Amino acid sequence: MNRACAWLAAAALSALPFAAQAASPGTPGPDPHSYANFDAVRVRHLELALDVDFRQRRLIGRVDLQIERLRADATELILDTSGLAIERVERRGRALRFTLADGDALLGRALRIELPKAQRGAGAASGAAPETVRILYRTSPDARGLQWLEPRQTADRQQPFLFSQSQSIYARTWIPLQDSPAVRATYRAQLRVPAGLRAVMSADNTQPATEGGRLWHFEMPQPIPSYLMAIAVGRIDAREIGPRTTVFAEPSVLQAAAREFAETPAMIDACEAMYGPYRWGRYDLLILPPSFPYGGMENPRLSFITPTVLAGDRSLVSLIAHELAHSWSGNLVTNASWRDFWMNEGFTTYLERDIVEKLYGAKRREMESVLGLQSLRDDLQRVPARFQVLAPEMRGADPEDNTTQIPYEKGRLFLDWLASQFGRETVQDFLRGWFDAHAFQSVTTEQFRAWLSSNLLARKPGAVTEAQVAEWLFQPGLPSYAVLPRTAIFERVDAQRAEWLAGRVAAAALLANDWSVQERLHFLDGFAAPPSLAPMAELDAVFGLTATRNAEIAHSWLLLAIRADYAPSWPRLEEYLQTIGRRKLVRPLYAELMKTAQGRERAQRIYALARPGYHPILVASLDPIVRPAAR
Ligand code: BES
Ligand code: ZN
Repeated sequence: MNRACAWLAAAALSALPFAAQAASPGTPGPDPHSYANFDAVRVRHLELALDVDFRQRRLIGRVDLQIERLRADATELILDTSGLAIERVERRGRALRFTLADGDALLGRALRIELPKAQRGAGAASGAAPETVRILYRTSPDARGLQWLEPRQTADRQQPFLFSQSQSIYARTWIPLQDSPAVRATYRAQLRVPAGLRAVMSADNTQPATEGGRLWHFEMPQPIPSYLMAIAVGRIDAREIGPRTTVFAEPSVLQAAAREFAETPAMIDACEAMYGPYRWGRYDLLILPPSFPYGGMENPRLSFITPTVLAGDRSLVSLIAHELAHSWSGNLVTNASWRDFWMNEGFTTYLERDIVEKLYGAKRREMESVLGLQSLRDDLQRVPARFQVLAPEMRGADPEDNTTQIPYEKGRLFLDWLASQFGRETVQDFLRGWFDAHAFQSVTTEQFRAWLSSNLLARKPGAVTEAQVAEWLFQPGLPSYAVLPRTAIFERVDAQRAEWLAGRVAAAALLANDWSVQERLHFLDGFAAPPSLAPMAELDAVFGLTATRNAEIAHSWLLLAIRADYAPSWPRLEEYLQTIGRRKLVRPLYAELMKTAQGRERAQRIYALARPGYHPILVASLDPIVRPAAR
């Protein structure tokens, strides 16, 4: 607790300012997942100057926060921190008193900074010079929002690598700030990194490095929410693949990535044609090492992408469409709190499918929509009712608890249903109008509802009722009148599966169907009960499933292999779990293993080996599954 007694001005010494006693965690501000008092004082701009210290696994340096007092009488700035050591806080070179409250396991520690009374005339309307608060700090080696990789955990095994993952509430583990999506700020940064490494951020990445290549400069001129603050440092090369797109990746991955994602420029054009101009300048991609815990993360100007979508045949690129679509739904128009998360992910999933249809046709859209519906159905079986609603009460809950298929696929089905009532074109224009009118704003579910009523429902009175809208937003499950996607393509796959299970066709005949990756996934995911060992071996031999390098197909196959107790896949399972850290692919495999005594043993043995290489976010979600006793 004494660590919290860092502090203060010489001028204040006489007042014995051990006021810097840690206080109880305190209560959240206007956002239940943040202590920030952004209704009184708002951060408008950040200037970061950080050393990236791989030896200590710390970021060390400072942030200057430009603040605006919304309330003239405000004399306190409250920020979010988690695991940060705060060395000093100052304003115009003079120390400011501050306290670091007790820690809350979910929200971290409020950093309360005493501000002098505002000068008369200060505040929003006065046009006075902005006030700046400087914070000197360092991060903790186990910051939840950062992963520090050893060279052997990278593709090239030559240099260490660092990357951030700020969504949902982890920006506070590497920057003291107002960590709420309701607050938007611009930023500039300078990063000092070891020689031979490149730094990139969710910002303008075109400025050449200085100081012998060690000092990197960034600027993000558009205001963004804190969960989009992002950094990565490593042995990273760049290749241009379009007029506004560069792929960044480790040298050994770069060529494959540039090929896989060659259609990104066409995706940008397609989305612009439907939803209005791309407003962020460049759209670049960064391919991360395999421990990246998500498929992708829509960091503005620079999406972070898992290498597990490098299938070699562009079959998994809808992920790029998804992260790109966030440039409209999410980054441009942002959920105001984590309760409104469905507006980020549901809208984005809808836009993603529109892009996929434009590039790859209606059949591909149908198939991906049905796969999405299937995973939604699985989640509706397992997720408690309070998280089956689009806008759940999130007070006291971890935003992680709502990262299910509900905000994604139920949110998308809501828009699909509106499209079925008003027409796809009309809904497209309506959404475009929504993005235009709320660009660079953070918005609530209630704001959207009001906008929906006056700008869409009013066009065709009676087609959709307010009660139906409320049912989508606030009732669990799916409305009985939801319009669900289906595809004859998968119906044929189902029929073939049944024929094969009945012994009426051989696996070789299935192979002759020349199924797409989506059909293969549907085939593998659709077994009510796992086949026995001989048919498993037949499938494996014919389709090369244990050996596949397609990470999604491998995932579906390994899940089936665990259920079927199919031993020839064990070495591949071990390798998979030790090289991939994408939560969506890894967690279900552990959960399936944990269902039997033998599987549990296998899971725990593999986990002991793999855990040191996993991202802290993945570890946090696997520990309760694989090590229930250790908690
Ligand atoms: N923004 C999300 C990732 C995310 C959500 C991170 C919540 C932390 C908390 C990203 O856009 C996303 O949805 N990624 C998906 C891929 C997508 C194709 C469904 C993923 O990582 O699986
Ligand atoms: Zn998303």
